Amino acid sequence: MSKILIISGGNKGIGKGLTTIYLEKGYIVYSFSRSINSEFVHDNLVQFKVDVSNIDELEVNILDVFSTIDLNQNEEITLINNAGTLGCVNQLTQISVEDIQNTLNTNLLGPIIITKLFLNYFNSQKKKIINVSSGAASKEFYGWSVYGTTKAGLDFFSKSIAFEYPEVKVLNIYPGVVDTDMQQEIRSKSTLEFKLVDQFIDYKKKNVLNDIYVVGKKIFELSDEGAFYSGEIIRIKDNRE
Ligand SMILES: NC(=O)c1ccc[n+]([C@@H]2O[C@H](COP(=O)([O-])OP(=O)(O)OC[C@H]3O[C@@H](n4cnc5c(N)ncnc54)[C@H](OP(=O)(O)O)[C@@H]3O)[C@@H](O)[C@H]2O)c1
Repeated sequence: MSKILIISGGNKGIGKGLTTIYLEKGYIVYSFSRSINSEFVHDNLVQFKVDVSNIDELEVNILDVFSTIDLNQNEEITLINNAGTLGCVNQLTQISVEDIQNTLNTNLLGPIIITKLFLNYFNSQKKKIINVSSGAASKEFYGWSVYGTTKAGLDFFSKSIAFEYPEVKVLNIYPGVVDTDMQQEIRSKSTLEFKLVDQFIDYKKKNVLNDIYVVGKKIFELSDEGAFYSGEIIRIKDNRE
């Protein structure tokens, strides 16, 4: 019996940490993102170029990915909606309509559509869904109104899917602060754009950020042990606490 992981953004950051541990555990991993990481190579890793924010072509592109998977009735399939963007960090009036749309598409509308296609396509397989959300879903950060709203939407979506599909295990993760390009992007903002920038610079200086491989392993273990209720939000501890 082969186990399969389908992940958005498995090429770098938290997604790479996740992909690495699933590969170590013997999964075949299908990752899609806007770019291919040519240095991340493994016999059981297949990378595709898909832009999740391109909603008009998302169905066709995702079904193309699914169609390459060799189906077998006994397979267990996990979907991880991990790809995400902070979008423009600023007070709402300073953010363009185009950027708002892109952040919503990448972080919320895309994952909703991908999940719908996943549930349809793999209707007879045992399924798990992991959504990578953020603590910003439940706490306001000045400059993150759009980002936080997309993650709050993802939280509610996770709960709703768990409710509608009790046979599917759904896990919603707040990964803590993790040492990725996204954190680097946060640290590059001005205090006008993001009032807490000094705090995030300090996290890096004090080395309190989580490592992508540590976070990936924790998420894998949580999902594998199954000791959560479907739709539950689980916060991964980082070293700020
Ligand atoms: N790092 C943190 O501290 C932190 C904290 C809380 C939550 N999160 C969440 O964790 C997830 C991963 O973040 P990260 O920190 O690993 O960020 P990252 O290093 O910036 O990686 C983002 C990932 O998403 C992919 N991606 C972005 N836009 C995409 C699009 N339009 N279509 C397809 N793929 C796209 C990227 O690949 P390409 O660039 O090749 O497309 C990349 O693999 C995100 O959902 C983020 O909101 C992160």
